[in-house]
Amino acid sequence: MRNEYTETSAAQRYDSARTLPSETKSLWLEAVRSAIPDGTVKRVLDLGCGTGRFTSALAETFGCSAVGVEPSTAMLDIASTGGGANVLWKRGDAGNIPLEDHSVDLVFMSQVFHHLPNPERALDEINRVLTPGGYLAIRNGTREHNPQLLWLRFFPEASEIEEARTPFARDITAAVTRKHFVLISYQTINQLFAKSYPEYFEKISRRGLSALIAISDKEFQDGCEELQRWIAQQPHHVAVYEPVDLFIFQRG
Ligand SMILES: C[S@@+](CC[C@H](N)C(=O)[O-])C[C@H]1O[C@@H](n2cnc3c(N)ncnc32)[C@H](O)[C@@H]1O
Repeated sequence: MRNEYTETSAAQRYDSARTLPSETKSLWLEAVRSAIPDGTVKRVLDLGCGTGRFTSALAETFGCSAVGVEPSTAMLDIASTGGGANVLWKRGDAGNIPLEDHSVDLVFMSQVFHHLPNPERALDEINRVLTPGGYLAIRNGTREHNPQLLWLRFFPEASEIEEARTPFARDITAAVTRKHFVLISYQTINQLFAKSYPEYFEKISRRGLSALIAISDKEFQDGCEELQRWIAQQPHHVAVYEPVDLFIFQRG
């Protein structure tokens, strides 16, 4: 199935456009680790792993093995240049996960939920591959936070896309708990995304966000020019933070 990350050029831009400062990445890993009892995760699935920016780090955090599953060959090709002996990469889709029943103790999905064409089917598959009592961690933007995303002010067409497809937090909770999961932890993390406005512009202009890939080149260029003009009026050393939600569910 095609998505914005199927194209090789989009996959190649992804890491430089979306790299998280190391402190931000550590914050996420610690938030997931601290919600789950020690010693319960022997194998983790990073579902929709993209270029694998969390996959090996999850294996390290939990001292376990990891498998990254991703539908885009272009993203997976980049992911598979990294990872150690305890990390396996597989091409596959959330609607048809290429793993055995009850074979992972934690499924981690970062910024994937809003891309799912059929969340119900994906949740059935997640249920199938999880061990009884296993965990599902969802890291995702939610619609209530869209007004706080600076870039959306400059790209109206991308903003429309985000408004239409980004779930509210309650939508994610309702969809997952309907499948007999229990919500054990929920928080919004205001993550550091760029240490200054010029760094922020650099990242946005690399066009790694899927809504920016989806709009026309002209709309993208116009938005970049507007954003650049706005940034020129701002003090440079202001860091940019973005709210992203973390849900941890346990399989009933
Ligand atoms: C914003 S990227 C996130 C990648 C990675 N999880 C991260 O946080 O860097 C969204 C990813 O979801 C993948 N994706 C889209 N539809 C999917 C599906 N139906 N099942 C699994 N992954 C999917 C895309 O190919 C893309 O790599």
